[in-house]
Amino acid sequence: MRHFLKTTDLSAREIIELVQDAIANKGEHSNILAGKSLGMIFAKPSTRTRVSFTVGAYELGGHVMFISEREMQLGRGETIEDTARVLSAYLDGVVIRTYSQDDLERFAAAATIPVINGLTDERHPCQALADLMTIREYHDDLTKVKVVYLGDGNNVSTSLASVCAAVGAHVVVCTPPDLASPEWAVREAIGLAAASGGVAEYTTDPATAVRGADFLYTDVWFSMGQQKNPLKSRQLEPYRIDEAMLAQTSPECRVMHCLPAHRGEEISAAVLDGPRSIVYQQAENRLHAQKELMKRLMVDAQA
Ligand code: CP
Repeated sequence: MRHFLKTTDLSAREIIELVQDAIANKGEHSNILAGKSLGMIFAKPSTRTRVSFTVGAYELGGHVMFISEREMQLGRGETIEDTARVLSAYLDGVVIRTYSQDDLERFAAAATIPVINGLTDERHPCQALADLMTIREYHDDLTKVKVVYLGDGNNVSTSLASVCAAVGAHVVVCTPPDLASPEWAVREAIGLAAASGGVAEYTTDPATAVRGADFLYTDVWFSMGQQKNPLKSRQLEPYRIDEAMLAQTSPECRVMHCLPAHRGEEISAAVLDGPRSIVYQQAENRLHAQKELMKRLMVDAQA
């Protein structure tokens, strides 16, 4: 069974083709998912992931069922494996947003339908596909692009680094020393870059990181489920994308954010709402990229 639990579940070639098809097929309405049902099990809030998968499946002729994890028997002790086996009998694919990547992988191991990671604490691979699609809309040659992530070494940064490294881009993850990416993520990105001819760098110095950047990218300082704390905010202050940070880049450098954003924390309002921000295009691309993903997992892989 073909799942999408992490960006490395697709080869570099498959990622590039998916992104190109997503650009070419924007606005597609078809019946390719006719008769198929997509379940969406979410344990955390969502605006973009939930709505873009719902609309995307609808535009491909499929049916979608949203299931809050709180309302399932999982919360009363039914096992992940039993849930996966039973839902596999009803559904043709499932998007899961949860906390633990291990729980997601347990679900996928027991499922006989494609499982898509709609975000875990460790990874956000669907976001990374839309990010790469957006980058590709500005640069034909991904091997000549420098993408700099600034902020917390979180799930968005791990998947962004992984997907950029896989396709041969130059990715820099710039975090405070105490908020660095986990070792597994660093190993993964550096290994992918070695194979693709790309570069994956990890640093704590924003001034050198942003030099020559084509894209600056940031995400919230406090991910879902994390309490705000003043020490972490102080550590992240120098990594905020604001006018001064942007002034260190070329006028062509664009600004990305997966949203939701907190203006005045990880990014200034002037930058987020300014002419170099491409965040709404990036958000729209969730829809286009995920339609291509559903086609590959729920149709092509079943043929
Ligand atoms: N970027 C993202 O995943 O947005 P949601 O949390 O709204 O789905």
